[in-house]
Amino acid sequence: MTQSFKKVHAVTGMKDILPDTSYQWQALEAIMHEWLAQYGYRNMRTPILEHTRLFARGIGEVTDIVEKEMYSFTDSLNGDQLTMRPEFTAGVVRAAIEHNMLYERPHRVFTMGPVFRHERPQRGRYRQFHQLSVEALGFPGPDVDAEHIIMLGRLWKKLGLNDIRLELNSLGQAHERQAHRQALVKYLEQHRDILDDDAQRRMYTNPLRVLDTKNPALQEMANNAPRLSDFLGDESLSHFQGVCDRLHEAGIQYQLNPRLVRGLDYYNLTVFEWITDRLGAQGTVCGGGRYDDLIALLGGKPAPAVGFAIGLERLLDLWLQSSDVAAPAECDVYMIHQGDAAQRRAMVLAEQLRDAGLTVIVHAGPSGFRAQFRRADASGATAAVILGGTEIENGTASVKWLRQADATAQEQQETVSQQELVMHLKAKV
Ligand code: HAM
Repeated sequence: MTQSFKKVHAVTGMKDILPDTSYQWQALEAIMHEWLAQYGYRNMRTPILEHTRLFARGIGEVTDIVEKEMYSFTDSLNGDQLTMRPEFTAGVVRAAIEHNMLYERPHRVFTMGPVFRHERPQRGRYRQFHQLSVEALGFPGPDVDAEHIIMLGRLWKKLGLNDIRLELNSLGQAHERQAHRQALVKYLEQHRDILDDDAQRRMYTNPLRVLDTKNPALQEMANNAPRLSDFLGDESLSHFQGVCDRLHEAGIQYQLNPRLVRGLDYYNLTVFEWITDRLGAQGTVCGGGRYDDLIALLGGKPAPAVGFAIGLERLLDLWLQSSDVAAPAECDVYMIHQGDAAQRRAMVLAEQLRDAGLTVIVHAGPSGFRAQFRRADASGATAAVILGGTEIENGTASVKWLRQADATAQEQQETVSQQELVMHLKAKV
């Protein structure tokens, strides 16, 4: 007797994508592949598992991702600390260094697939989700920074999205952020008496976050705090101006957001996010920016870089709100048969039809004609090919056109010789 087995469910926050919806993913991916090719971006793929220290070093020890959101474990065979990638950039940079990719030329690359973060699940926020990550390695900008934003503008247009806005900021360089931070801590110390508990706690660990406060009593203090933009030197300012000028020329609208800092530590200079109000609380569809120090930080020869990632669940949700993506037919031809000889003949003929480039489903399992016709119709096939005793005896096949607008034409069945079946269908499907 088999022992009872408790049903297994998918892990919380991790979703199955079933055939009834995966065609929508494929349609979105096809559009994105074409768009990426238009800008000369080439695909690369890195492992899902990386050494934990890659992310700790790359994303930053005191970020939310590294502190509390990573799926990490010890490899029981050799004791290595491993982590399921929470994003792509660190792994792409690791691979670029490991394979000396930047030795001879810069690279425009993209990578797409699942990433993992242990966050509290809600609409638009999952523990396994998918990103398209685009990275331009070895380009100092500002031209490539602008290229990324302009290409994203094109993607939204291709997808018919217009409720999506761009927020932009410059984080300057590390020493400029350091000087700003010192000034900010000093300013917060001067206002210590009005700070709430949260702000008191964060004042020294993450003073920028204090400015992100939702507490109305702190709003004015936050608004008058020293601004990073006042600490940027000429080079940083002219880099940022270079990005903004190109966006103007491309007709891209943006909002400057001096509070935009991003949740990963590797950024410098340009940072941006594309946000929509149509997705509830999780409205950031895409985020990115420049990370000129990351390659050196991970042990490579210093080289500048810039990139972004799109959250594909969020983009798909947004796209489907305004576009109907038609489910494709399962096949061109559905083969219906009765009896062992007919089933075997159907398999042979189906191979001939596939040789001619058609997509074909041969009905499987013991069903009556009526049930087979129902399946044929539901498959979306253009034609059903019917093989019964008479057809086998005469060396013929019956063809029924399933998608004729004219109902009487649909009723008609044609009889063709099996030799002519491929030609006959190929001409009409
Ligand atoms: P990120 O902002 O952490 O950036 O993530 C990029 C996008 O992934 C977000 O804008 C959002 O659409 C989506 N996303 C993030 N967390 C979740 C979640 N839990 N569930 C569903 N979607 C989510 C990065 O990951 C950087 N690596 C981007 C980058 C590439 N910067 C330079 N190159």
